[in-house]
Amino acid sequence: MKIIALNGSRRKKGNTRILLETILKPAATAGIETEQIFLGDYRIEACTGCEGCSKSWDCVIKDDFAEIIAKLDHADGIVFGSPTYWYTVTSDMKRFLDRCYSLIQFPKTRQQWIGKYQNSGKVCVTAAVCEQHEEAMMGTTLTLLSDFSRDIGLELLDSVAALRCFEAGSIKQESAVLQQAELAGNKLARQKS
Ligand SMILES: Cc1cc2nc3c(=O)[nH]c(=O)nc-3n(C[C@H](O)[C@H](O)[C@H](O)COP(=O)(O)O)c2cc1C
Repeated sequence: MKIIALNGSRRKKGNTRILLETILKPAATAGIETEQIFLGDYRIEACTGCEGCSKSWDCVIKDDFAEIIAKLDHADGIVFGSPTYWYTVTSDMKRFLDRCYSLIQFPKTRQQWIGKYQNSGKVCVTAAVCEQHEEAMMGTTLTLLSDFSRDIGLELLDSVAALRCFEAGSIKQESAVLQQAELAGNKLARQKS
């Protein structure tokens, strides 16, 4: 049993890290193995749109991407988290999501696709952090992660939006959102223990 969290921030002591740790904590307490991965620690090239993955679940670009996919393949639960950079996810997260084009297939028409993790029983939580006080200023950060998760076939259990977080670590003052994160983490842990 394992739950992994993918973090799109490069701030190792940042708000997204704390948010993801809070989401992972109930699982860790229940004895489930957890791991947080910083996408910025991996070499992930941009998707070239070559369609080389159109008939397989594998991306043809040889870099660290496959290592992360192997972790997703073996995980029972996945948490995607990113800070908002200009109304959306960070470039590290976006490059990763683009490469995950290899996790969907279009067997009949371009309007219908299947996700690699459909019927796998894998569950998911999405999380986003931003500095401003209105959710609109978060732009597509959270909706993008949530739509993506469903597209690749994960069951989305919950989503957490942390507003008003600017300085690294300032999320610690936001007790309401950390409580919400713990509740989301409880859903993950309950589903998997
Ligand atoms: C390049 C850049 C762009 C940002 N764009 C936004 C934005 O559009 N809206 C917002 O509310 N905050 C924005 N922020 C603030 C971050 O989302 C905020 O500081 C967040 O807490 C960073 O998370 P981290 O500590 O996990 O890295 C931006 C920060 C940077 C560095």
